[in-house]
Amino acid sequence: MNQDQLKQMVGEAARDEVLKLPSGQVLGVGTGSTANCFIDALAPHKEHFSGTVSSSNATTECLLKHGFKVLDPNDVQVLPAYVDGADEIDLAGYMIKGGGGALTREKIIAAMAQQFICICDSSKQVPVLGNFALPVEIIPLARGVVSRELEKFGGKVGLRLAKNIRTDLNQTPSEPFVTDNGGWILDVAGLQISDPLTMEAQINQIAGVITVGLFAKEKANILLVSNVSDVERIAL
Ligand code: A5P
Repeated sequence: MNQDQLKQMVGEAARDEVLKLPSGQVLGVGTGSTANCFIDALAPHKEHFSGTVSSSNATTECLLKHGFKVLDPNDVQVLPAYVDGADEIDLAGYMIKGGGGALTREKIIAAMAQQFICICDSSKQVPVLGNFALPVEIIPLARGVVSRELEKFGGKVGLRLAKNIRTDLNQTPSEPFVTDNGGWILDVAGLQISDPLTMEAQINQIAGVITVGLFAKEKANILLVSNVSDVERIAL
């Protein structure tokens, strides 16, 4: 079984999970290849939800293509669940997210939601977060000062470049990657994140930081994780 099949399996499991929710409510939808599998699986059942709130322009495009209603988060008061992938998740449900650059809107929607349903394959499960470089979205003019502050945590800080990620913006590979919010991303490699709640709070305090891709306060509440034999459901 390849990784695409594992993503498809967990996307279908997440569909079954959210269809247990009472109908007529709004659903939060994440960003990335696993979240896209979830959207594909849920599309035939879209009438179960009165609408969705989306965590990125890419997800909005995907939801609209499938005929989902996409609402302005400001018009939504109650969000029973948010379904999204992760780049890493530890045993407590703390996550690193933002590999796709959507961390800020992902964290906003996660904060709105009553429960975060994380969907991933078992390669994303780790005992300690940090093998995946930690994304930090910043105000561009603060790049220098934020980089110096982040270096104090002991990792190696690099500015994310456009490469092939945002071909829609026609950026050249040597230009900074630009988020949906106009921010840049610093990726911090080589961290061993033993206390995610404290590190999240400390990085949030740095002037110029928009969002850190450490989801500790907004941790996962339910993990659906696929492996070669099945999808495991873990309440966290
Ligand atoms: C997007 O910014 C990320 O947080 C994604 O949710 C995360 O990178 C998981 O993406 P994949 O499902 O594509 O691995």
